Amino acid sequence: MHIAHVVGARPNFMKAAPVIAALKGFSGMTQILVHTGQHYDANMSDVFFRQLGLPTPDINLAIGSGSHAEQTAKVMLAIEQVFTEQRPDWVVVYGDINSTVAATLVSAKLGIRVAHVEAGLRSFDRTMPEELNRLVTDQLADLLLTPSEDGDANLRREGIPDERICRVGNVMIDTLVRLLPMATPPQGVELQSRYALVTLHRPSNVDEPQALTKLISALVDVSRHLQVVFPIHPRTRKRLADAHIDVQASNCFLLLEPLGYLQFLALQQDATIVITDSGGIQEETTFLGVPCLTMRENTERPITVTLGTNQLIGSDTDRLRNQVQRILQGQAKRGTIPPLWDGRAAQRIAAVLVGASGR
Ligand code: UD1
Repeated sequence: MHIAHVVGARPNFMKAAPVIAALKGFSGMTQILVHTGQHYDANMSDVFFRQLGLPTPDINLAIGSGSHAEQTAKVMLAIEQVFTEQRPDWVVVYGDINSTVAATLVSAKLGIRVAHVEAGLRSFDRTMPEELNRLVTDQLADLLLTPSEDGDANLRREGIPDERICRVGNVMIDTLVRLLPMATPPQGVELQSRYALVTLHRPSNVDEPQALTKLISALVDVSRHLQVVFPIHPRTRKRLADAHIDVQASNCFLLLEPLGYLQFLALQQDATIVITDSGGIQEETTFLGVPCLTMRENTERPITVTLGTNQLIGSDTDRLRNQVQRILQGQAKRGTIPPLWDGRAAQRIAAVLVGASGR
């Protein structure tokens, strides 16, 4: 059985690592890893390969940045050649990025079976590029590996037959469970006993200068009550510069470059509050029991709100200020860990894939 895994951007890497490792154990199994190169900076890509123990990609398509159409088209053109030469039995795609949908479209047209890890998540917000990627990927994939019950329900509602859906749990938590003992804060960073960890990169928060200015000014207010630690995504750095917002000038934030997996995990674990618009961080904070304030109107991961520590703040910066106060006064939301977020999702994925190859 020959499997091609396709990864492209930071949130893919921690999902692919445990699946590749779990599949290694099966005899007659060959695997290749294709990196599309959607993320290419050392601190957005290389450091993750090292820390997660991912094999060096067999193929790097080096497609880089660009408009959505450009990125998707470049991956499609390059990966068609790879799949035609390699003829994998399965292509495994992860998450919801442009590389995911591009690889899925090409595989489906070549008649190669596709397994989608993290299938079924829906924000029901079609202004998000990731939602479009999720919808198309799930329609075309042959095997939909979901992290939670809501994923199964969404897929059924879209008319996907039960035989294609398999709930395996949250594979990103596999990586978290394995690497938590190795998590170490970044060197040379002076953390206070209480701090808010902030990440922002969604177009809805950073692409519009007015929204970005409002958000930064709310974070300045937060910094009056506790330290604000802010590793800045390259996209956000560019948008701040374009909007002439000098986050350094105020001296209110501990600004950092994007961090490695182990460093960021350590910061999450000890944070008093996490403020984010990321998808994966909503899940990691739920697992860690850390209060998470999500700067989005909706989430494709509702289980982090119903069971976990996550709260949707939207773009309401007054609500952000109020919720920070509540948490500081000891009234943080408590949560539980969702079912099948147990560190063994990749083993279940491997078993399903190997079983499905006989069909
Ligand atoms: C992508 C994913 C998003 C995911 C995020 C995690 C899509 C549609 N979006 O968004 O779902 O949450 O990754 O980070 O696929 N850049 C660099 N160096 C890099 C990568 C990006 O400088 O290594 C800059 C480029 O200017 C680029 C911009 O960041 O234009 C945005 O990168 P891009 O890959 O287009 O999307 P992300 O916003 O990172």
